[in-house]
Amino acid sequence: MDTLPFCQACENNKSWILDVLTRVFADRRQVLEIAAGTGQHACHFATNMPWLAWLPTELPENMPVLHARCAAYAGDNLLPERALDVCDEPWPVDIPDALFSANSLHIMAFSAVEKLFATLGNSAGDDVVLAVYGPFNYHGRYTSDGNARFDRWLAQQSADSAIRHFEDVDHLAADAGFELQGDYEMPANNRLLVWAKQVGK
Ligand SMILES: C[S@@+](CC[C@H](N)C(=O)[O-])C[C@H]1O[C@@H](n2cnc3c(N)ncnc32)[C@H](O)[C@@H]1O
Repeated sequence: MDTLPFCQACENNKSWILDVLTRVFADRRQVLEIAAGTGQHACHFATNMPWLAWLPTELPENMPVLHARCAAYAGDNLLPERALDVCDEPWPVDIPDALFSANSLHIMAFSAVEKLFATLGNSAGDDVVLAVYGPFNYHGRYTSDGNARFDRWLAQQSADSAIRHFEDVDHLAADAGFELQGDYEMPANNRLLVWAKQVGK
C-alpha cells in the first residue's frame, strides 16, 4: 500500500499527459515543474522520460509533502526539489528549456498566473517549451457541466481560485513571447496546452 502523500487527480490522466510530453519534450534537457504537489507527476515523468532532468518545485509551506515522494525516487534524473512561489521576484531557480505545471492555474490567484507569465517573459531563454495541464474555459463557456460544478466548488474553497479562460492565458503567454503549439484534449474535460518560445528558429 502507498503510504506517501497521494492525490487521485494526479494519477487519473498521467498516461495521457505522458504521451504528449514524450513528444513535446523529446529534445529538451531539463524541466522545471511548477506546483508539483505530491510529486507523483514528477516521479512518473522522470521515470518515463529518463533523458530529462526533472526539477519539481512547490510553495515553501508544501515542501514536506513534495519531499516525501521525491526522496523515495530510485532514479538519478530527479533534481532536489526547490521552493518556488510563482510570485517570487526574482525566481530562486533558473528557467531551463522546458516547464510543466498541472492543476495549478485554477488554484493560484489570477494575479499569480499573470506574474508567472511576466517572469517567463522577462527571464526565459530563447528556446523554451511550456506545457500546462488542467481545465480551461473557451469562448467564455465551460466545456462541461462537470467543469461548471468544479468551478462552483473552487469558489467555495477560495475566492482566488477559478477555472481560467484559455484566451486570457494564451494572451499572457503571447505577451511573454510564447506561441501556442498544441491544445490537446484530455479525459474528464481537461486540456494539455503547449506553448513554445523559439526565437530565431
Ligand atoms: C491542485 S494542486 C496540484 C498539484 C499537482 N500539480 C497535481 O497535479 O496534483 C495545486 C498546487 O498549486 C500550488 N500553488 C498555489 N499557488 C501557487 C503559487 N503562487 N506558486 C506556486 N505554486 C502554487 C499549491 O501549493 C498546490 O500544490
